[in-house]
Amino acid sequence: MSQIAQEAARRRTFAIISHPDAGKTTLTEKLLLFSGAILSAGTVKGKKSGKFATSDWMEIEKQRGISVASSVMQFDYRQHVVNLLDTPGHEDFSEDTYRVLTAVDSALMVIDAAKGVEAQTIKLLNVCRLRDTPIVTFMNKYDREVRDSLELLDEVENILHIRCAPITWPIGMGKNFKGVYHILNDEIYLFEAGGEKLPHQFDVIKGINNARLDELFPIEIQQLREEIELVQAASNEFDLNAFLRGELTPVFFGSAINNFGIQEILNALIDWAPAPLPRETLERVVEPTENKFSGFVFKIQANMDAKHRDRIAFLRVCSGEFTRGMKIKHLRLNRDIAASSVVTFMSHTRELVEEAFAGDIIGIPNHGNIQIGDSFTEGERLTFTGIPFFAPELFRAVRIKNPLKMKQLQKGLQQLGEEGAVQVFRPHNGGDLILGAVGVLQFEVVTARLANEYGVDAVFESVSIWSARWVSCPDRKKLAEFEKANILNLATDAGGNLTYLAPNRVNLSLTEERWPDICFHETRELT
Ligand code: G4P
Repeated sequence: MSQIAQEAARRRTFAIISHPDAGKTTLTEKLLLFSGAILSAGTVKGKKSGKFATSDWMEIEKQRGISVASSVMQFDYRQHVVNLLDTPGHEDFSEDTYRVLTAVDSALMVIDAAKGVEAQTIKLLNVCRLRDTPIVTFMNKYDREVRDSLELLDEVENILHIRCAPITWPIGMGKNFKGVYHILNDEIYLFEAGGEKLPHQFDVIKGINNARLDELFPIEIQQLREEIELVQAASNEFDLNAFLRGELTPVFFGSAINNFGIQEILNALIDWAPAPLPRETLERVVEPTENKFSGFVFKIQANMDAKHRDRIAFLRVCSGEFTRGMKIKHLRLNRDIAASSVVTFMSHTRELVEEAFAGDIIGIPNHGNIQIGDSFTEGERLTFTGIPFFAPELFRAVRIKNPLKMKQLQKGLQQLGEEGAVQVFRPHNGGDLILGAVGVLQFEVVTARLANEYGVDAVFESVSIWSARWVSCPDRKKLAEFEKANILNLATDAGGNLTYLAPNRVNLSLTEERWPDICFHETRELT
């Protein structure tokens, strides 16, 4: 095997998906702790106080006085290189989250076992489903009173439409939480609350019929044995191929805050989750083991660090090897860039990258010339596909207090639109610019950034737009007819695409009926 193939094979790139408060931040911190990337961990307190907390990790950084510094973390575990991508799951939930999920090969779904499947989890899982991303599930907070475990599995199967294969099974809960039984290994891991125990420091008892269990749990053990029998008979067996197809999820139980269950998740990611997968481009499929470097930009973040006033384009490496100083081609602009200042996200800080392989994320500093979806190679024309833009659900018209700042406003919105911070629509009837977002916090971020970075005081006003659809039609004549008849509802987005802005649901379905040759798209893939 070539060195490039070997390096690709030992990479795992994943994101954590969860509803706010399920324990994503806690789990992230514990994963870092366990991998040795940070030295101590504790409850991250008061994290909701920061209004514009763009990343929970930045909060960890503030709280703990450590430098996590970005929304991508790389750490080593069992001779593998793990890339963990943060998905903003909170109030700042936005399209960014969706696009981060296009850059991973698997996802870890965290569920608060007291609450079960919640709204954000459903949304995020549906995005994973677009690419059949394999999902590992962690049922968290067993140190509390939680819901019945079988009922939780039922809920995941019925609401998220993914089969569950429990790998561990909890023994008790809350004050009576004793540990978990590992079904595949036939081992019991004993739970102990509090302290800073590392995951491998929990006691292990071999075999469900081990007499020590009768001594330790004289009352509960019989019931547990019966329950395990029932679970094994009633639930799915783990099937690696079904997992890799995104049809079945291995389920683990534990308590993130107590470091309990973390090791099993990490092992599942290393043993079962896929190494970097082949990626589609318009031209051909790109294999991670190819010798030549290629990758695409899935996220842009500005002002990540007050000391570095720049934008970072996050690029997912899809093939080959990236080494410091090599020239790579920015295909949209057809321009070579000498990537000497490219950064990687090793353990604590932004460091200059020495080398990166498929699955790794590298950060390219730039001044606004790189856009989401841009492809980079050593010269071959490749256009990575599958980076989605979603029909926004919230709309605002933009006005400015000082009309002399119109130019700055347009420039600012153009750049924020290209960055993907918000979607910008220019109505064909010449009215005010319309902003579209998936999460309401996006508007606040845009207001703040327009003021800070472009010196523009913008006010947003509500507009009667219910949803947007990207419009296409292979027949140019029909499209022109449609455009003429619907000028009041049409706009062009920042990428120059024709969009229909529907005032309400009824209007949209009537228009769709009236124009059967026109396609109305809910998502737009960047090509
Ligand atoms: P998030 O990033 O998904 O939003 O969740 P986060 O990790 O911040 O966790 C949300 C709350 O749940 C936190 O409490 C955290 O301490 C708690 N938590 C996480 N894992 C566990 C667990 O295994 N057991 C228990 N009992 N709690 C857990 P918080 O925000 O500090 O609020 P509070 O509960 O301390 O008031």
